[in-house]
Amino acid sequence: MDKLITIDGPGGSGKGTVAKILAAKLGWNILDSGALYRLIALISENIKKTDPDSIGKELKDKSIFFELVKDQYHLFFDGKDVTNFIRREEIGVKASDLAHNQNIRNLIKDTQRSFYDPNIGLIADGRDMGSVVFPEAGIKIYLDASIEERAKRRQIQLKEKGMEVNMRNLISSLEDRDLKDKNRDVSPLLIPKGAKVIDSTNLSIDEVVNKIMDLI
Ligand code: C5P
Repeated sequence: MDKLITIDGPGGSGKGTVAKILAAKLGWNILDSGALYRLIALISENIKKTDPDSIGKELKDKSIFFELVKDQYHLFFDGKDVTNFIRREEIGVKASDLAHNQNIRNLIKDTQRSFYDPNIGLIADGRDMGSVVFPEAGIKIYLDASIEERAKRRQIQLKEKGMEVNMRNLISSLEDRDLKDKNRDVSPLLIPKGAKVIDSTNLSIDEVVNKIMDLI
């Protein structure tokens, strides 16, 4: 898979922003796999059930796609823009809990792979893009940053969406999620084989993007 870049890493490491800029530069599609786990968490919250069968029924035959709205990728599920609902921090925590379950992960594996069109190209970001979903990707990146820097970036992102969050709560929520994502048995967050590690703590977005463009 030549026209495929995977970007894995913890929350707030800059994956989404970097993926968006790369997609614009290259004219490729994006897959924000975290948004799909957040969608699952939202569905679970709405139907008040956590079992894969019930969630699978809600997902069945429904369209899932990303579209640029005012320079931001929005997630559309069954024709509805669910972006603002899935971005809540509680939904992130719930997504992380549900993502432990292999059967939940299986619900969206094919959907994730279907985002790759070899004629167009794809930037896929998440926790297991290079290790499990697209192990054959041409370029794999592992993007990291210090916890303080990641929390600062997340706070700015949430503020832009009109959501106020306390910095201490944000750091502990990110730390909690990192711990769960790295230590789970299924598809843990790890540096995929063959991935280039980039620490973005002291780098600008453009510097990160240029490092990745150099690899292409
Ligand atoms: O990246 P984001 O914060 O939106 O992801 C929400 C949660 O979804 C993560 O904390 C992680 O537990 C889960 N996730 C995952 N595998 C992915 C992407 C996200 O388990 N590929």
